[in-house]
Amino acid sequence: MKNKSIPFLLTVLFCSHPLLKATTNPDSLVLPVKASQFTVNTDQIVSAVQPTMYGIFFEDINFGADGGLYAELVKNRSFEFDAPMMGWEQPESDRFSMNDKSGFAVPVKYAEAGVNKNYLNVKVNADKGYRLVNEGFKGMGFKQGLRYDFSVFAKQTSGGTTLHVELLDENNKVLATSSIPISGGNWKEYTASLTPSAKAMKGKLSIRFEGKGVVDLDVISLFPNDTWKGRPKGLRADLVQLLADLKPGFLRFPGGCIVEGRTLALRYQWKKTVGKVNDRELLINRWNNECAHRPAPDYFQTFGLGFFEYFQMAEDIGASPLPILSCGMACQFNTAELVPMDEIDPYVHDALDLIEFANGPVTSTWGKLRSDMGHPAPFNLKMIGVGNEQWGPEYIERYKVFEKAIHGKYPEIKIVSGAGPFPEGEMFEYGWEELKELKAEIVDEHYYRSPQWFLENANRYDSYDRKGPKIFAGEYAAQSVAIASPDNRNNWDCALAEAAFMTGLERNADVVYLTSYAPLLAHSEGWQWTPDLIWFNNLEAYGTPNYYVQKLFANHVGNQLLKITEEGKPVIGQSGLYATATIDEKAKELVFKIVNASAFEQSFSISMTGKKAAGTKGKLITLANNDKNAVNSFESPKGIYPTEKEVNFTGKEMSLTVVPKSVNVLRVAYK
Ligand code: AHR
Repeated sequence: MKNKSIPFLLTVLFCSHPLLKATTNPDSLVLPVKASQFTVNTDQIVSAVQPTMYGIFFEDINFGADGGLYAELVKNRSFEFDAPMMGWEQPESDRFSMNDKSGFAVPVKYAEAGVNKNYLNVKVNADKGYRLVNEGFKGMGFKQGLRYDFSVFAKQTSGGTTLHVELLDENNKVLATSSIPISGGNWKEYTASLTPSAKAMKGKLSIRFEGKGVVDLDVISLFPNDTWKGRPKGLRADLVQLLADLKPGFLRFPGGCIVEGRTLALRYQWKKTVGKVNDRELLINRWNNECAHRPAPDYFQTFGLGFFEYFQMAEDIGASPLPILSCGMACQFNTAELVPMDEIDPYVHDALDLIEFANGPVTSTWGKLRSDMGHPAPFNLKMIGVGNEQWGPEYIERYKVFEKAIHGKYPEIKIVSGAGPFPEGEMFEYGWEELKELKAEIVDEHYYRSPQWFLENANRYDSYDRKGPKIFAGEYAAQSVAIASPDNRNNWDCALAEAAFMTGLERNADVVYLTSYAPLLAHSEGWQWTPDLIWFNNLEAYGTPNYYVQKLFANHVGNQLLKITEEGKPVIGQSGLYATATIDEKAKELVFKIVNASAFEQSFSISMTGKKAAGTKGKLITLANNDKNAVNSFESPKGIYPTEKEVNFTGKEMSLTVVPKSVNVLRVAYK
């Protein structure tokens, strides 16, 4: 199947499926005449809510890793892209003339084959002002007064040269400069620090050469000094902070389709992403040329953000790590290449070795590598995913082999399997039937659907088998226009519908163990897929309304599920209201989530048996907007943002009014 046809296929499958139900559009609801009456027995615990309930899904899509979370500013720093000079310019070089050459550079292959294949050979003619300029990922963001750390490997093979490293703004004004004389004919790392005198959103790195001679260069790198936790050559702190603020229960990585690759050779191989950063072999990113509407020929994976860094980030933000591995099936939307069953061993070993890398003693092969990389303590891996969005008998056949091997050696590790790319239909039904039969532990479901679908599916898990596999709602997002349409927006309509749906996830916390919105990050100029939870440019980032919905749910999850009903039925859209109730035992609070998807103010009262409210006050946190098309933006990053107020109750029941189109969290201390 042609990759271009994914959205089309999705649209056709989604729109024609008989499971789609016609329900009321909340905008056209009749004004409710009376307040809703909700009932909760606060002593009757339905089940525990898993600490993993609300997590995050990270994939290197939309320049989420290179050009995003990974703070390296130089694109193609090692000249390893398919076009080795991509991202680099030689503005003053006149390579095609015999006269007056200021100098020129050519990529050269190392004599010995290795993962780092190329270096740059630069011939410099005296005083002619030869320069090499790197454009960065859609430019480079420079903050005024912040230190930037430059490094390069270089060797002078003849003559003598000095590198004048310069940070330029978009008009080529020099913001910072530092000089590095190159000495000696052996490869050596040179470093410099630069502090820009002004801010630039689309700056550049320029290396001006002085002198005459031949100099070889490799791994030309530039990082801001304000990385997450101040780790040198680390991650963008503002982006990690946004993730940390979600208080995610888990971090799923590294995807997504990039796990599978277009072909097996191009799949994500975690072992190639650990160890010394400069020894990690570059790989084309699967999203490079995937979307005809947003081609990204300069999209590669340097793996500066590799598996060690993912585990470390998960630990930093208090999330349980959830790596997903290739199961020997290339993306079925692309080549669908399969590893023959008698050649599957290396894939299975990758999974076993990964568990050793994460949890093994420092005396084990892979545990030692983790320790050598700076983390002797285990990463406490508890779950692993087998395949991303696979379907059909070929998947089940391979899953069985992985399951046997993983549980044979590590019975305590929970395996996440998958029910394919769609939330219903033939592939989905087949996958579920087989996985149920195999007593799979956790099954991953994906849904990229209309806001209406989300509103209508708040009861999706009410009828799931309580004794069957647990659910990982691993990728979901409401699509404002159509599945994977480039015109999709992270608007309030979508966020509100997701919130209504999420009450259904939470209400079914006895079977739904993990959930995550997808995709997570998008560069405002480098994206391939929209909508996305967090948008960023070279200097700034903001959370979408969908982000604040996720944050509200994750920050107020509670640990025990209660039943909240209206006339004995779950609150799933009657009068446009959706509700859940949980207990947060640590805070000694009852937590109610009430989503008002209707266009009207709504009143309700909650009558409780069992534990009672400790007083007459509560805290109401509200995320609301009257305009369903409203979005957040760089100009207005908190246009849709939660507000908090104290509420007072009178009488025995707690009565409240919530504003139209709102997501509300009510916290009440209990006694
Ligand atoms: O989230 C974008 C893509 O959607 C993921 O890579 C894939 O798993 C799904 O099809």
